Amino acid sequence: MSILVFGSVNVDIAVYAPRLPQPGETLHAQRYAIGLGGKGANQAAAAARLGTPTIFIGRTGRDEMGAQARGLLGGYGLDLAGVAEDDQAGTGIAQIIVGAADGQNIIALVAGANMRLGRADVERAAARLADTRVLLLQLETPLAASLDLAARARAAGITVILDPAPAPEGGLDPAVLQAIDIITPNETETAALLGRRPATAEDAVAAARELVARGCRMAIVKLGGNGVAFYAGDGREGFVPAFPVTVVDTVAAGDCFNGGLATALARGDTLPDAVRFAAACGAIAVTRPGAAAAAPTLAEAEALLRR
Ligand code: RIB
Repeated sequence: MSILVFGSVNVDIAVYAPRLPQPGETLHAQRYAIGLGGKGANQAAAAARLGTPTIFIGRTGRDEMGAQARGLLGGYGLDLAGVAEDDQAGTGIAQIIVGAADGQNIIALVAGANMRLGRADVERAAARLADTRVLLLQLETPLAASLDLAARARAAGITVILDPAPAPEGGLDPAVLQAIDIITPNETETAALLGRRPATAEDAVAAARELVARGCRMAIVKLGGNGVAFYAGDGREGFVPAFPVTVVDTVAAGDCFNGGLATALARGDTLPDAVRFAAACGAIAVTRPGAAAAAPTLAEAEALLRR
């Protein structure tokens, strides 16, 4: 049984600076790195690195960056038969700055071919649903295509997880929440969805409850280095404190969390156990530079859980 990821793939150009620059400021940075990114590709790579059979459905441009993205994707053991090349748009590119002071980041991206995922891609994904236990979606690709696939997946009894990232301006229509099983916003995305930013564990659990009241089955609210709250929709709720780790680079921590969450749910973990496992995956990711490249192995995640 596999995880299916329908989403974006980018080439990330990451610059490592002493801190994040202010608007209008120029800073000298120490180094840069080019790597695999895109929230979809990162989540797929994270699940595959944990040893979960993972199918990735996405689009690159037919360009140099596309060849680079495909080469990078090929290093993760993913099923890439469903990755298409687009003649009309270039490969997605993300420009990232990471501040060494606290590992925080800013990202601006050109979505390119990612925003051309459509009916043909949904059909390619739908043809793989028979092998699938969990479907992972994000918001770097057209929402209509994701919802089309979500409806087919749920009809087949597959758990659908939506990472509402990047934060949706103006929130999400309740119909979107009703179309999925689990939503996994961080603080910024929770603020976009509910109009308030959770600051404490209690706020985050309340936000998770409110998201479920708006239509999804379960909600997980990620507070980064401050832990993660969940509400399972049946009265079970809780908060997992963050693992104490040294933060180097926070890029894709949420993606590694979601790859871990899907892995744990696909193997039958309960939601509380799956959230703890996912939190360990996210925690390891922040200790390393890079996006997909920061994802942990199963042995690394289990070692942190035992610590
Ligand atoms: O979540 C991190 C990712 O966001 C980066 O890899 C970048 O490509 C953007 O999609």
